[in-house]
Amino acid sequence: MNQFVVSARKYRPATFDTVVGQGHITNTLKNAIRNNHLAQAFLFCGPRGVGKTTCARILAKTINCQFLTETNEACNTCESCVSFNGGQSLNIFELDAASNNSVEDIRNLVDQVRFAPASGKYKIYIIDEVHMLSNAAFNAFLKTLEEPPSYAIFILATTEKHKIIPTILSRCQIFDFNRIQVDDISNHLLYVAGMEGITADPDALHIIAQKADGALRDSLSIFDQIVSFAGNNLTYKDVINNLSILDYEYYFRITDDLRVGNIPKVLLAFNELLSDGFDGHSFINGLASHFRDLLVCQDQATVSLLEVSKNTKEKYFAQAQLTSPQLLLKLLDICNRCDLDYRAAKNQRLHVELALIRMCTASNPMPAEEKKMLN
Ligand SMILES: Nc1ncnc2c1ncn2[C@@H]1O[C@H](COP(=O)(O)OP(=O)(O)O)[C@@H](O)[C@H]1O
Ligand SMILES: [Mg+2]
Ligand SMILES: [Zn+2]
Repeated sequence: MNQFVVSARKYRPATFDTVVGQGHITNTLKNAIRNNHLAQAFLFCGPRGVGKTTCARILAKTINCQFLTETNEACNTCESCVSFNGGQSLNIFELDAASNNSVEDIRNLVDQVRFAPASGKYKIYIIDEVHMLSNAAFNAFLKTLEEPPSYAIFILATTEKHKIIPTILSRCQIFDFNRIQVDDISNHLLYVAGMEGITADPDALHIIAQKADGALRDSLSIFDQIVSFAGNNLTYKDVINNLSILDYEYYFRITDDLRVGNIPKVLLAFNELLSDGFDGHSFINGLASHFRDLLVCQDQATVSLLEVSKNTKEKYFAQAQLTSPQLLLKLLDICNRCDLDYRAAKNQRLHVELALIRMCTASNPMPAEEKKMLN
């Protein structure tokens, strides 16, 4: 039986050019390698799941590759590349400081640094999650980092740059990794789906990409999770059911009803959502983002700011044409107030219902005669 390998591992990029969304970093690294202008210590910072460890490994492999390709990538066939790919390189060491953070662990590493590489040009030390090193370990490491032998290169990676002491920061060339854009993530998911023989709605992949919040690894884990539940054909419905996300459609419908002031329909829709187990607070915030998106879509020029598929963009644009910016600002204002007071409200359901009723009346002000009658 084939063993299932999670997509995040199976699709770990092996070359600089296949790393998604970090071109500013991979290009600089490739240039440094080509010009033989390598720093002795690198620090890779940024959120989790955006390619720090991946790039550290690619850099390590490429530095020691004997036959760089024309595009300055590792050849993957020379002795050094082959032994690295097989996990048995004698010149590349990896220490995961999350689990090996004692002063002993660092001493072992520092002891090895003293010996020049038996073959190959460089000895490369990758210290992942470097902020997890104990203080004593940090200090033991500092001496080596201050005066490293010419053949040693250190690649440090961390999600928490602010925890790295200034003496270390000042000795490293620092690279800040970006969160990955929703479009880049969904394109990558499309590629992975293709490789796995899975068909997927563009909207389904977009929602996963949004949910991953910039982390490519998370998007791949979510993707695996939904595939294991939905099989080889991923629909938008599968994704929203699996992730308990409120459907775009839902916001479109409720906005239509708000716009014409249909209070009963709006209240019934809200009731349905609560009985499906959704939370009123995230609903109000979701509604506010929907209004924001409609504001952005008032003008064709800013529609591109929406992080949704093309199909959905058209729907937003159409609804935006029916809802004036003045009204949207009023609605957003009501949402904001509802959001701010939500936690303090004793009856949170009523709190949201009142906000919805206010929105209906803001959209559809009572005729003057009726108002008089009420006074
Ligand atoms: N920029 C990226 N391009 C392509 N795949 C990525 C990228 N970032 C993360 N991944 C995917 O996520 C997995 C974990 O990435 P990793 O480099 O370990 O993230 P980090 O060290 O930043 O937490 C990789 O194996 C790969 O499948
Ligand atoms: Mg990592
Ligand atoms: Zn090679």
